[in-house]
Amino acid sequence: MKSVVELKNVTKVIKGKKIIDNLSFNINEGEVFGFLGPNGAGKTTTIRMIVGLMGISSGDILVCGKNVKNEYEAALRNVGGIVENPEMYKFLTGYQNLMQYARMFKGITKEKINEVVELVGLTDRINEKVKTYSLGMRQRLGLAQSLLHDPKVMILDEPTNGLDPAGIREIRDHLRKLAKEKGMAVIVSSHLLSEMEMMCDRIAIIQKGKLVDVQNVRDFVNEAATQKYFVEVDKNNPIISNGNINGIAFNQVDDGIEVEMEKEQVPELIEYLVQSGVRIFEVKAMSKSLEDRFLEITGKEEVKNA
Ligand SMILES: Nc1ncnc2c1ncn2[C@@H]1O[C@H](COP(=O)(O)OP(=O)(O)OP(=O)(O)O)[C@@H](O)[C@H]1O
Ligand SMILES: [Mg+2]
Repeated sequence: MKSVVELKNVTKVIKGKKIIDNLSFNINEGEVFGFLGPNGAGKTTTIRMIVGLMGISSGDILVCGKNVKNEYEAALRNVGGIVENPEMYKFLTGYQNLMQYARMFKGITKEKINEVVELVGLTDRINEKVKTYSLGMRQRLGLAQSLLHDPKVMILDEPTNGLDPAGIREIRDHLRKLAKEKGMAVIVSSHLLSEMEMMCDRIAIIQKGKLVDVQNVRDFVNEAATQKYFVEVDKNNPIISNGNINGIAFNQVDDGIEVEMEKEQVPELIEYLVQSGVRIFEVKAMSKSLEDRFLEITGKEEVKNA
């Protein structure tokens, strides 16, 4: 797989304080890559460095092999994104805004404009004034604008901020589509774990400016030492009334028990239950959510949840 963005020992120091501490990882074409971390972790700072809005104290960032530090224009030609709120002219229509923007680049055709409008689902409203747009529609217009020059990398800081659930879902679908169909590398940041889990192929967990982990979302969720299991048992059974079986803590629910344990402990638990005369109907592993895993890694206090 081809890396389109490479971070090599990237550090940012502001007023003597290390805001970003030695970040290294690669982002590949065709993947949705997430920066996940609590407020103040350094997600926006990292994004600002990638798009050249902020200098790098030490280390290097390469976009399509070009160094953001000394080949700025060549590097940034491949990048599209919305870091701050996109500038829009409210009294112009969505289409006129895109035309305005297109004039700044060479070779953006009307067909291209129509294509991106279609892609973000704004076709029906594109000839209305931006002042009549909802927040979600403005976000989409911003996305359309940043797609006009066919970037290889799309970077969006908290792309779903302020959107309703339907809007979040649509943006998520659009971004996934861009990655899969156009082979674009899409980088998003969020402190919303559930959202990252649905949107990303891989995530980098950042905490206090340091990289805690970078992993495939599925592996990440499944790699935990312990896992939750649900054991469906005969609910009238007296043995499961004290919250602890053979040293393994559990929650009793209506028709069974929920236990968190290591895989190795499963046979042990079953044996214990059977010997105690408990009738077992089913034992199933419940997959851990990214959120469970995230809290395990970063500790609970600092996480700002949705
Ligand atoms: N220009 C600056 N001067 C001083 N400190 C800064 C500056 N920009 C960012 N910081 C600090 O760097 C740290 C990381 O900030 P950043 O905005 O990157 O976090 P974030 O992960 O995007 O958080 P959030 O989830 O709240 O958006 C914070 O402690 C912030 O206060
Ligand atoms: Mg931020």
